[in-house]
Formats: sequence, structure tokens, C-alpha cells
Amino acid sequence: MKATLRTLLFGLIFVLPSFGNEVSVAPDAKPLPYNKMIFGQFIEHFHRQIYGGIFEPGSPLSDKDGFRTDVVEALKELKIPIVRWPGGNFVDDYHWLNGVGPDRRPAHDRRWGVEEPNTFGTVEFVKWCRLIGAEPFICANTESAAPQETSDWVEYCNSNSGKYGLLRKQHGVDTPLNVKYWSIGNENWMGGKFVKTPEKWGEFVRDSAKMLRNVDPGITLFAAANEQEKWTLPLLQHAGGYINYVSIHGYWDILWKINNPSPYIVCMMRTGQPADKIAKTIAVIEKANLRGNVKIAVDEWNLRGWHHPPMSNGKLDVKARDKNDINSTYTMADALFSACFLNTCLRNCNDVEIGGFSPIVNTRGALFTHPKGIVKRTTFHVLSLYANKLEKNVLPITVKSDPLVSGDQSVPVLDVIVTTNDAKTKFVIAAVNKSPDKAVELSLADGFQSRDRKVAATVLSGVSPDDFNDIGAENRVIPETKTLEVKDGKVSLPAHSLVIFAL
Ligand code: AHR
Repeated sequence: MKATLRTLLFGLIFVLPSFGNEVSVAPDAKPLPYNKMIFGQFIEHFHRQIYGGIFEPGSPLSDKDGFRTDVVEALKELKIPIVRWPGGNFVDDYHWLNGVGPDRRPAHDRRWGVEEPNTFGTVEFVKWCRLIGAEPFICANTESAAPQETSDWVEYCNSNSGKYGLLRKQHGVDTPLNVKYWSIGNENWMGGKFVKTPEKWGEFVRDSAKMLRNVDPGITLFAAANEQEKWTLPLLQHAGGYINYVSIHGYWDILWKINNPSPYIVCMMRTGQPADKIAKTIAVIEKANLRGNVKIAVDEWNLRGWHHPPMSNGKLDVKARDKNDINSTYTMADALFSACFLNTCLRNCNDVEIGGFSPIVNTRGALFTHPKGIVKRTTFHVLSLYANKLEKNVLPITVKSDPLVSGDQSVPVLDVIVTTNDAKTKFVIAAVNKSPDKAVELSLADGFQSRDRKVAATVLSGVSPDDFNDIGAENRVIPETKTLEVKDGKVSLPAHSLVIFAL
């Protein structure tokens, strides 16, 4: 679309005159406890996520194990409950034995077309997870590794006996690593994968699950899935009794071939799409009569898809991956889309229990590293606010919102979640105003004790919807404590903002 036409169209951005933006709650609304693992993360052996990201032996900023200490300290702020590793596509060619023990030899990573040094492997990953306070979650290779190789991996991690439990001890790790979370495969529904049909995939997952649970009956199992019935229903019909989660992924600004990030308003128009994906997945689980038994892990999600283009000769353009490091790409669009995504997961907390922001460090991550330090991108602050400010239950509410219109598209201008304690005596509200240029008034219905008063609020908005953080401008977009006036039961939410406040 020509730039002028595009500007003209997207110039037609407006919020209709207010018909009433209101949040209300039924008197008998029951608090819904949510799993904090919704705030989980993902990291892959891709570009600078591991090497030069969390693991940089020899850096003056790294500890004796080579872990970047500035990264560890920053990630502790996010209270990360779980981290999925080592991929992603990377797993399709990963053989875990190459990454354990004293004799680490590099291997060619056929998925990403680079050399994998194997100096960061299972023991390093688990140690790093324990350092930041997160549960390790391993995604296993089902493309070039038989189920036996993965069950050996479970034994290496969790057993005090057996060939691989003893091998771990020989490697100097006497106590089990206690990795509770294991995923069978990654996006096996993609074309060109080893398992060709949903039926075969369901049988493969069932047999793999049995083998893994033979080694450690206590593990929690995931299987690569998606929101399509044709794939996930057979998976559940064959393996639904052997897995705890279906693993689905979502990226809503697809940039892997061409790195042309969509502008703010285009991203806002996509904020409803995660709910559609989750609803479709729930419908498939329902159809398999497994709702409540099998839950959903959105263990890879990000507004921005990663950039990893092919070259004209079909090879991978590894250098082009540096374009993922352009910090100006990560603006309030990323922050507010991410807040809306987390609100969607919280609204669906009976079914969605685990998330995986993709990834947590570098590429499209919340934290950017460079040789002299880190940059907390806008999304970092959203993850921090959600991990630290919310109450432990979601309160079912009704939200009336004016539309935000752009061209022929529209979405609710507001996205609001209310969290509460068990007694419903305290409310913490997270409200997103997607409008790029207008403050929006939100009415707090009676259930929220909306008497006139001033309340403290945390506001993340930047000055412009396109604001970002960068080296030398690390604090351009940071959460600010402001006074929010409740007047006649209404509060004013600034343009392009996430506002979190307690009532
Ligand atoms: O773009 C990164 C890739 O996205 C991950 O490796 C894969 O799991 C997903 O398709």
C-alpha cells in the first residue's frame, strides 16, 4: 500500500463520541485464582539470546559461570515463574548429549544455519533458572531424535540411577536437576516436519509420553499443538490422557522475511486476535471432552515475529538477524499489545495457565543486552508491572468500551482487567487506553466503591505512541507514579497508556 494512501487511511483514526466506557461487577462475582506461570518466558539458541545475551563468559559483567549478572538482576524484577528452552525451531536438530559433560564440542545447527558451541547446555540452563528463581521447562526434539533420546534426557535430569542418572553424577552434578516441565516437540504441525499427519502425531505423543513418564511419573507434559481442530483434535483423542497442556504459539506482526514493523495503530487493531486463537483452542479441548484436564500453554508469544530471512540462494541470511536488535522497533505498541495479551490470558485463566514471552532477552525480547549493559524495552516494564502489582485473583467483570476505529477496522479502545483478593476487599485494576492521541474516561460502577478521591496509579505511556528505550535513553519510557482522581465515579486514562491502580 502506497505510503500516502497508507497514511491517509491510518490517518482516519478516531474514537467515536463516548457512549460510555464503564467497568462493572456483579455482586456475586467469584474471584478466579490465576496461575502466575501466565507470566512465563521463553529463550532459544538463536542469534544473541543465549551467547551474548544471558551467557557471556569473559565479560566483565558476567559471574564465574559466565552468566551476565546485570541480566540476572534485571530478570529477578520480573519474578519469572518458568522459562522454556532451548527452542523453538532450534530443538529440531538439538541432541542434548552434546551439551553436557566436560567435553563440549561445537555442532552445526541445521535449523538456524550456524554453529552451536554447546558450552551452554542443560546444566547451565537449570543453574541459570535457579539463579533467577524460575522453573526450567525443556522442549524436546521430536524431529531428529527418537523418544528414547528424550527419556534419556529426563533420566539425566531427574534420576539418581540408570545410565544417564549416573552419567550426570559422573559430570559432577550429584543431585537431580529436578526439571518438572517437558514439552514433546515444537510446532510439529508446520510443513516439512517428520510426523506428517495429525493422527500419527497423536500416536507419537502418546507413546512418547508413556516413555517419559516411565522415567519420571511426576513430570508435567506439553505437546506441540495449535488452535486448528484438524491438528489438535486427533492429538487430544490419542494423547489427551497422557499430557497436561497443549502448547500453542502466537506472533501477530509477521516479520521473518521482511523486517518492516507495523505502526502503532495497526498493532492496536490486532489486539483482539489472541482471544480468537485461545477461544478456538478451548473449543477443540471442549470437543475432545478434556476441558479442565488439558490446559493451554501459550509458550511462545510476542507481537513481533522474529526476523530470520532466507537469502536468494535459499540459504539463511544470518547477518540480517541483527535487525532484531533495533531498539526503536519496540514502542508503546509492543507494550500495550503485550498488556492486552496478558489481560486476555487472565480473562481465560480457567484454561490458560502458562505463557512464554518470546523471547525474554534480545531478538524481540523485553531485555536488550550490549557489551556495557542492558536496555529494558517497553515490554519489560509491562511484564514487571503485571508480576508485581496485581492481586492473586481475576474478578469477572463487564467492560463497556467505545470503539477505536482505523479505516475499516475497529477494536474496543479500552482493555481492562480487575484483580482482587479472596475477600474482594481490595481491587487492582490494569487498564489499557489504546487511543494514540486521546485520554479516555472510565466509569467505575458502584461495585468499586467509586466515591470521589485521589488514588495512586502507576502509568506507562511514554510521550508518544512511538516512544522506545535505547542505549543512552534507557529511561525514556518507564513506569511513573501519578495521582489519579476518581471524580463522579470516573477516572481519566491518558492516551496510549497502561494504568494500574488500586481501589
Ligand atoms: O521465529 C522464531 C520461531 O518461531 C521459533 O523458533 C519457532 O518455535 C516459531 O515458529
